[in-house]
Amino acid sequence: MRETQKAQKAQRNQGVPEVPETVADPDLDPDTARERAVDAALASLDLDAKTRLLAGRDMWSLPALPEIGLAPLVMSDGPVGVRGVRWTADDPSVALPSPTALAATWDPALARRAGRLLAQEARRKGVHVLLAPTVNLHRSPLGGRHFEAHSEDPYLTGALATGYVQGIQDGGVGTTVKHFVANDAETDRFTVDNRVAARPLRELYLAPFEAVVENAHPWGIMTAYNQVNGTTMTEHRYLVQDVLRGEWGFDGVNVSDWMAARTTKAALEGGLDLAMPGPRTVYGPALAAAVRAGEVAESAVDAAVRNVLRLAARVGALDGAPPVVTTPPAPIDGDALAREIAHRGFVLLRNESHVLPLGTGPLPSTDGTTPDGTTTPATPTTPTVALSGAAARDARVLGGGSAQVFPDHVVSPYDGLAAALPAGALTFSLGADPTEELAPAGTGFTLRAVCRDTSGTVLGTGSLPIGQVQWMGADLPAGVTHDTLASVEITGTFTPRESGPHAFGTRGLGGFVLTVDGRVLFDGTQGPGTETDPFEAFFGAPTERGTAELTAGQTVEVSLRHTPAPEFAPPLPAVVFSLVHLPPRRDPDELIAEAAEAARGAGTAVVVVATTERVESEGFDRTGLALPGRQDDLVRAVAAANPRTVVVVNAGSPVEMPWRDEVAAILLTWFPGQEGGAALADVLTGAAEPGGRLPTTWPAALADAPVTEVTPTDGTLDYTEGVFIGYRAWDRAGAVPAYPFGHGLGYTTWSYDSLVATPDSALVRLTNTGTRPGREVVQIYLVPVHDPAERPARWLAGFASVTADAGESVEVTVELPRRAFEIWDEKEGGWTRVDGTYRVVAAHSLDDPRLGATLDL
Ligand code: BGC
Repeated sequence: MRETQKAQKAQRNQGVPEVPETVADPDLDPDTARERAVDAALASLDLDAKTRLLAGRDMWSLPALPEIGLAPLVMSDGPVGVRGVRWTADDPSVALPSPTALAATWDPALARRAGRLLAQEARRKGVHVLLAPTVNLHRSPLGGRHFEAHSEDPYLTGALATGYVQGIQDGGVGTTVKHFVANDAETDRFTVDNRVAARPLRELYLAPFEAVVENAHPWGIMTAYNQVNGTTMTEHRYLVQDVLRGEWGFDGVNVSDWMAARTTKAALEGGLDLAMPGPRTVYGPALAAAVRAGEVAESAVDAAVRNVLRLAARVGALDGAPPVVTTPPAPIDGDALAREIAHRGFVLLRNESHVLPLGTGPLPSTDGTTPDGTTTPATPTTPTVALSGAAARDARVLGGGSAQVFPDHVVSPYDGLAAALPAGALTFSLGADPTEELAPAGTGFTLRAVCRDTSGTVLGTGSLPIGQVQWMGADLPAGVTHDTLASVEITGTFTPRESGPHAFGTRGLGGFVLTVDGRVLFDGTQGPGTETDPFEAFFGAPTERGTAELTAGQTVEVSLRHTPAPEFAPPLPAVVFSLVHLPPRRDPDELIAEAAEAARGAGTAVVVVATTERVESEGFDRTGLALPGRQDDLVRAVAAANPRTVVVVNAGSPVEMPWRDEVAAILLTWFPGQEGGAALADVLTGAAEPGGRLPTTWPAALADAPVTEVTPTDGTLDYTEGVFIGYRAWDRAGAVPAYPFGHGLGYTTWSYDSLVATPDSALVRLTNTGTRPGREVVQIYLVPVHDPAERPARWLAGFASVTADAGESVEVTVELPRRAFEIWDEKEGGWTRVDGTYRVVAAHSLDDPRLGATLDL
């Protein structure tokens, strides 16, 4: 039964779907040329230069070493775009759908195209390495960064991330697959000790990293904040040196998560190459001193420098070394690809009586109302749509935290539908607004930042698309330095859309003077609260400072002057604060009644429900899965008024939908990226089929989910469920979710006609039995019969998607990786194939099996 790991390695992960390779220039013998250039560069560096290279020069880059022709390597977040070295909306980036949406496409080739677009963005912005993808698993639906990871299934995660990394590297840009490993929740993330037994560690949490290393050969990896089994990941010699580099052959660079490196000797010996950000890190001068004191071997420094230089050589930042990619792939239209990925990832959870795609309904009783309150005349023959929900107007296209990028435009659901439907066919009512907190000043504000020294002299100014200053490291307006800067004023005008009491406030630490329409609303100092996460000041809670009675359309002056206080300085040189605002709230019952009334007269009612940045972001976990605010009440009221109610769920991760059986259709759009509204219109009107399948089980209620715990006890979080997370856990508990893993309806139907299974593959023949062309994701599950190994009841072994015209039959071969039949043997410390009888099931989703075959190993 047992075979050597070497033999197994060759066969591992064979099932990851193939995508075309980039053509490399064969004449260059590039690997050897690069290694030679790296050797030569390394040999000519002294200890101080070498250790300097291992520490960030600033927030996002490494120092240049002109003596060896090394340019400064620049890194940037990821994963839905390329934010660049400025954390502001005036350095825009394309914003693709969230990783959960990308995973819902079940299409590694599409992920590869996404990667190529991101490489194009990175090159445009001078970025060499994208800090992505996030391949941690959906262990608990409460995980705050769930939206930023792919799936609860390690195979699906690994396959998608493989395509994504291949695509970015096709464009000659590096990646850091993150966060290695078991960073599956946010609570106490800097210190938590995640206790994970060897089998779940190998079979679940390490598996996507292993698949990406095996199949995409990533040029970088990021080690996480947390500990695993008592050792912090930036010092985890066993997992980094032995497993990642030794067993898997990873030859890329290992960068710490930001501020995760705490020690000099243990980190270096644990295999950490780069301590980010800089300039204050445990490497640099501290590392040189440790070598000189005989505490750390210089050979260990050399090994780390070699990895960094290899990365530089690969991305073309080291003179004399041929970059991996000399001719980037053909230019990609970012807007078009963002739109395609969006509708390919939308999951149609329910579609009673084929309410979608939209047909024609009764004529409008009134003219169409727009979000601005103006009206457009209806034409007598148009289908009418009554749209409601705050996120239909103020689109929520991505999740919060370091995953945030700033697109130069966003197509909201309202914008998308208004462009697709005939004039007058669309009405909008707010219905319910889940934003209960003040948010950075946006709509109606025209703002800039003015920087002054201690004497009040203006040093420089910066443009501000929203009321948020986030200047990290050297990212300051021209003429300004951290040494000379004494105050920053956000100043400009505000023209409200609504009359009434507007709330204003601040986010950040230090001194503030807030003035609105000539009146000082606050003059005081904000100190830290009880937060433990150093990023809390960046992304944390805003504080309301007062209200101003304003009139719609009448412009007023606003100003927020901030004096940074040294005692509350962030852990790195940065200026971070916001002017926050909340428009007047109308009576929630009135809003709901208005939306229900509009729905009553329309052909179809579309309600967009959403989470907020205070629900899904970084640095904290969720406390529940209920939709914030009165959104559930809105859906129920609209559904009662119109039987053709379609609910659009705009959330990166599971939410409870207690009304799910009362509405005609539910379309899950995730965080759909900048073109989300256009893609929504495509799908609602039938111009495109919703292509997504759930990459994660959706519970009806949090209480039903078998694995939810994210809060450590005495600093420790025990993964007591072992290998049973996601659908593996639901099966073991005998529990039934609202929607199972793999679920998603299209606009056509399929018959599965035949299945032939071997240990290496499943050959499936199927027919599009509907009336439209369509795409089907063929999912192959393995079900062990008489299992001796305490495995899950069934698991995903492979998948592939097919397209066919109406009436057409197609055949697809789904590769089954050898690993699908293996478990990690904790006693022997190796992979073991479990022989016996298996049912191979070809399915539309986990709970919609279509054909089965028996396989004896
Ligand atoms: C996040 C990383 C991110 C880094 C840089 C950290 O807080 O965990 O995912 O890449 O910040 O922004």
